[in-house]
Amino acid sequence: MNNGLEDVVAAETQLSHVNGEAGQLIIRGVSLDRLVAHARYEDVVTLLFSGLFEPIADAAEFGRRLGQKRVEIFAHVETIDRDLLALPPVDVMRALIARLADGDDLDTALMLLAAPAVFLPAVLRLKRGETPVAPTPALSHAADILAMLGARVPNDAAVAALDAYLVTISDHGLNASTFASRVVASTKAGLTSSVLAAISALKGPLHGGAPGPVLDMLDAIGTPDNAQDWLVRALDQGERLMGFGHRVYRVRDPRADALKGALKQLVAAEPANRDRIELAEAVEQSALAVLRLRKPDRPLDVNVEFYTALLLDALKFPRDAFTGVFAIGRTVGWLAHAREQSLEGRLIRPRSVYVGPLPQQAA
Ligand code: CMC
Repeated sequence: MNNGLEDVVAAETQLSHVNGEAGQLIIRGVSLDRLVAHARYEDVVTLLFSGLFEPIADAAEFGRRLGQKRVEIFAHVETIDRDLLALPPVDVMRALIARLADGDDLDTALMLLAAPAVFLPAVLRLKRGETPVAPTPALSHAADILAMLGARVPNDAAVAALDAYLVTISDHGLNASTFASRVVASTKAGLTSSVLAAISALKGPLHGGAPGPVLDMLDAIGTPDNAQDWLVRALDQGERLMGFGHRVYRVRDPRADALKGALKQLVAAEPANRDRIELAEAVEQSALAVLRLRKPDRPLDVNVEFYTALLLDALKFPRDAFTGVFAIGRTVGWLAHAREQSLEGRLIRPRSVYVGPLPQQAA
């Protein structure tokens, strides 16, 4: 049912703008393509936090403070027990974050940026029966995540690829998880509560849970000449093609090309994943053609999750960890939005349209 409520404006923001008709993403006045070309994770956090929290001198100072927070947060890894470890990685991460103190200040924000970045690699290592690796505060955030995951200093190409990913997904208007974060912030509950709500909204397959199933789809298709038959069969069975379609974009999601570019650079340095990219490109072309035929009235194009899956796979994250990596990158957006909302000080309280039965009149 379209009751006209879909387009209601729920918040004003200075943080990011998604232009769905033009396929453009602007983050604090900078277009995504420019940001990915020039910024590292630390720069985008400095950009998004500016004016919302007490000032930090520059991205380098910010990086030092974040490195210290990673070290502090690592102490919590000891509390992971066997029951917790049996849960999916993003759920373990959420449970560990739930133990952190709530607050509305920069110190809490830094802790919440460090937490998922430290917890996810530790959880993945513990699940593989390996010892967690302590953070190295002098490394950049992206480099340290890979070092904690792989137990060695990562190469420059891998760090650049993860940085490009973290920058690309840092913020994206009022998506479902960011909205959840703002709703909680509007009650003045605190940043930790906002991030927990946001992770819960993110993990579903219609939002941040899609990239794992994208890889499952590519595995099931197997070879480029199998793509069209497989995709037609999936649609015949009423399935959605993961990594395609978007609520706001009516054209190609600009984040898809930012990540495809990062992936191609990574593969140029590490050719091991070339076959998978060729398969992905063939599947993308087939899917676009099949969707055009099946849904001529609904422009459905590739979204961010399609190339996310390939990039994170090439960086050796297991597919059940993809949503957790998304959370690592998106936390800065959740925090900036939560803080913007709490500074505005107004409770978000939308009204519903009641369509249920009315009370019977007494005879
Ligand atoms: N495959 C096949 N059909 C689709 C797809 C798809 N991926 N996406 C939408 N449709 C069809 C849908 O079945 C419907 O057809 P009909 O009108 O005949 O019933 C029509 O397009 C409109 O669908 P909708 O549900 O109104 O579209 P939406 O704006 O609510 O959905 C979406 C957006 C992302 C949930 C949806 O496109 C989808 O499920 N995509 C697959 C999952 C996915 O890739 N999710 C990641 C989203 S991007 C990450 C992020 O920013 O959060």
